[in-house]
Parts: sequence; structure tokens; C-alpha cells
Amino acid sequence: MTKLLMAVLFAFIPLFGFAAQAAPIIVEGRYSAGFKNIEDGSNIKKAAALENALNEIERKLETGDYTTVLNACQSLLDNNYDDPRIYTLMARAYEESKDFDNAYYFASQAIAKSPSNVEAYTTRAHSYLERKDIMRATEDIDTALKLNPRSSRAKSVQDLINEAQKPAKKKRASLSDYRLPPWFFVYFVCVVLVIAFYVVLRYYNVFGGPVDVKGRKLKEVNIKEQYHFIRPIGEGGMGKVYEAYDNALKRKVAVKRIKPELLRNDYVREQFLSEARMVAMLHHPCIVEIYTVIETVNSLYLVFEYVDGQTLETRLDIDSYIDFDEVKNIFESVCQGLSYAHSQNIVHCDLKPGNIMIADSGVAKVMDFGVAQKITDDNEDKSHPVAGTPAYMSPEQQKGITSKQSDIYSLAVCLYEALVGQVPWSVKGFDVTTKKIVPPSQIAPYVPKEIDELIIRSLNEDPSKRIQTVEQFWNILKNSQAVNS
Ligand SMILES: Nc1ncnc2c1ncn2[C@@H]1O[C@H](COP(=O)(O)OP(=O)(O)O)[C@@H](O)[C@H]1O
Ligand SMILES: [Mg+2]
Repeated sequence: MTKLLMAVLFAFIPLFGFAAQAAPIIVEGRYSAGFKNIEDGSNIKKAAALENALNEIERKLETGDYTTVLNACQSLLDNNYDDPRIYTLMARAYEESKDFDNAYYFASQAIAKSPSNVEAYTTRAHSYLERKDIMRATEDIDTALKLNPRSSRAKSVQDLINEAQKPAKKKRASLSDYRLPPWFFVYFVCVVLVIAFYVVLRYYNVFGGPVDVKGRKLKEVNIKEQYHFIRPIGEGGMGKVYEAYDNALKRKVAVKRIKPELLRNDYVREQFLSEARMVAMLHHPCIVEIYTVIETVNSLYLVFEYVDGQTLETRLDIDSYIDFDEVKNIFESVCQGLSYAHSQNIVHCDLKPGNIMIADSGVAKVMDFGVAQKITDDNEDKSHPVAGTPAYMSPEQQKGITSKQSDIYSLAVCLYEALVGQVPWSVKGFDVTTKKIVPPSQIAPYVPKEIDELIIRSLNEDPSKRIQTVEQFWNILKNSQAVNS
């Protein structure tokens, strides 16, 4: 009986053994299929256990527990390393965890073992896509869809591939899109170095310093250190005049600055300097004195004595005309200044109320020798460039011929304007064809007859028929008296 019992028990041992090993066992998260030592006769049961294990793993894959899937598959591989389904599951787990290198490897293994594996082709196509190998991705996905045209996963990977093949939409350019080529930085550094090198050389005056248009050396002068510019006081054709303060000599000056746009014009620059040289020859209380000329790299300045007062032009704008005795006072100074200039053979050429300064002290000063001419025996009556102000210019000066008598003509126009308030050519009654001048006494009755005569003679078209010298002019004016009404 005991023997019989033992025999029955032994007969059931293999069955217990299978029962103990049939279901996959999870040990510390690892599948242990435990198919070792299975006898040959139990193949069917082995397959069922593997099937169970794979189903279990597939469910894990769906839950997203990829670590468990990979560990379980690894365990299964120990005994089933030819089973393509394990490789497929591993490829999928890697694919889902975005490890496309491993996904590619295991998908390739699965395909090698089962060439009609839709899932493996799909996973490998996805891996190729991630590696930007569109051609191989397309091949694999085509194979997958040929094998199963209804595979939804294959279709979605195909969509991804198609999307990747579309030309990138043009996005709006942003600043970060403008990447500069590397050579640009090299170029930039070279330019900076060249500039720095040039600045250093300039600093040590290696080039010998700046020069003017004639190649003469110029000093780098900071005019604003020497003079404090207070305000602009006048502007003419060639320059602008500023009231300024000489910081060193502690006195007011008038600084005439050449217009920047004319600085490079040789003729104007020379003309500007010629004014300076001309005035520098003249020292007279009735001529505005020049102190110095400053040529800097960027400009040219003439520095004059500052006259506190107003020009005859401004005065006539305010008062229309000036009474006879005051006119005499003003013209006494003007005649003295002009007579002195003529004695130095300098013809002013632009005598007009705007160039006669009446100082607050009462003395008048002639200024603006910008177009003045130095008369020599050989150039007297020779042609010069026409320059001056037409309303005050003699007929010959308008043709380019200057002489002391052309200044006397201008002096007479100024006197007429000071007494009457208008130049002879704008007075009512002036005959343009005969050029007959309306005597000033007809407009201003206090003007004596000898002044009518003085002016009309001085305005003669023929310079030789005019009053010949400034002294004669002044003598007549000095000896005349206003007519009492
Ligand atoms: N030395 C000076 N003192 C005071 N004002 C001056 C002086 N020089 C010029 N000005 C003012 O500047 C104006 C222009 O000066 P000016 O020498 O006639 O130059 P431009 O050649 O431009 O006519 C004058 O009308 C006068 O108002
Ligand atoms: Mg002027």
C-alpha cells in the first residue's frame, strides 16, 4: 500500500513541477519564466507559458512601465533568444522611451528573425525617421503597410514621415536667424586694429600733423578752450559771427567762422584769409581791428575786436532815417576809417550800412574787409571778380573794376540812405532810364543843397567825374549845416 502510494505520488511529480513553473513569476520586478529543466515532452505547455508571459509584458507596455518590460524581455531572452516577438516588444519599449538607437537595433533583430513583422518594420521606420534617414524610413513604412495596410501605428508613422518631408514653412526672420559668418569677426577685428593703430600713430604725430588745402601744417587747436562762445551776432555769405570771450586775455571778441560747407572751397578760404591780412595792415580807431587768425583742422576763424553797439543798417531799421548832425558824426568816423584804408591803398569794395558799426561810444567803425582789394600801381583799374552788394556798388565795380572812387560811390549811397531812409534807386521819382537821382533835400528838406550836390556828384557814372577823395567828401560834409525849417 505504501509502495502503491509512492508510485502514484512519483507519477504526479512532473505535473507539480510544471504547475510550479507554468505561470511567469515576477521576482523583484523581473520576469522569471523559469523554463529551465523542462522535459522535452512538455513543449506545448512551455509555449503556453511563454505566450502568457508575452501577453503580460504587452499589457505592461501599454501601461508605460518600460523598465519592467525591458527587464522581463531580457529574462525571457535567456531561453528564447530566437523569438522575434521578444525583440519586437523590446524595440517597442525603447521606441516609446525615445531611445531610438536601441529601438532600431531590436527592431532590426526582430525583422531578421521574422521578415513579415509589421510592428518591427514600423518601429524601425520610426527610428530611421528620428535619425533623419527619410529614405530608409519610407522603405520600412512601405513594407509595413504592404504587410498590413490597416495598421494604425504604421499609418501614423507614415504621417510623421510625410510631415518631415514637407518643405519647412517660412517663419518670420528673427534676429537670431542672422548668424554672421565667422570671417566677419576676423574682418571686424582687423578693422578695429587698423583704426586703433591709426589713432596711436596720429596721437604720436607720426604723420607730421594735419595740413590745410595748400599742404601747410595745421595745429590741432581746441578753439572752445581759448574762447567761450556767447551767442551768434551775424551771418553773411561766407561765415557766421559770434560774440565770444577770450579766456586768456579776459576780453570780449567777435569770432568770424567760415561756413563749414565752404571750408574746402579754396577760393573762399583764400578770400577769408585775405580779409584777415587786409585788416591786419590797418590800425585805426575807425576800423574794426583784427586780433588773430586760427586755422584748425575743422575750421578757420578770424578773431576781431568786439564792438559794443549796432550797425548803421540796424539803426536805420529802427529809426528809418537819422538827423543831420548825427549823420555827420557817424560819417566823420566812416570817412576817417575809409580815408586811412585808401592811404594804405586798400579799397573796401563792400561799403554799406551793414558793414558800419556804430559803437555805443558814438564812434563808427568800418568793418568786413571780406572782398577788399589792395590797389597797386599795376593793378589799379584792372578787372577783379565781381563781389559786393549791388545796391551800393558803382557801375564800374559791377563790371569788376575797382578803384578808390568806387568806394566814394558806395559812401554816397550810404549817406543818401542815412539821410532819407532809402537808397536812391528805391526812392519814388528815380528814373531808371536816365538814372537821374532825386536830390535828398526833396525828401528830407533839412538836407542842405551842398549835400545834394556832393551826393549827385559822387554818384556819377563816370568815376573821374566824382568827388575824387574821401577827404574832399568829408570836407564838404563837415562844412555843411542842416537847413532850419
Ligand atoms: N567786431 C564786431 N563786433 C560786433 N559785432 C560784429 C563784429 N563784426 C561783425 N559783427 C556783427 O556780425 C555781422 C556780420 O559781420 P560781417 O563782418 O559784416 O560779416 P559778413 O561778411 O558775414 O557780412 C555784422 O553785421 C555785425 O552785426
Ligand atoms: Mg558784412
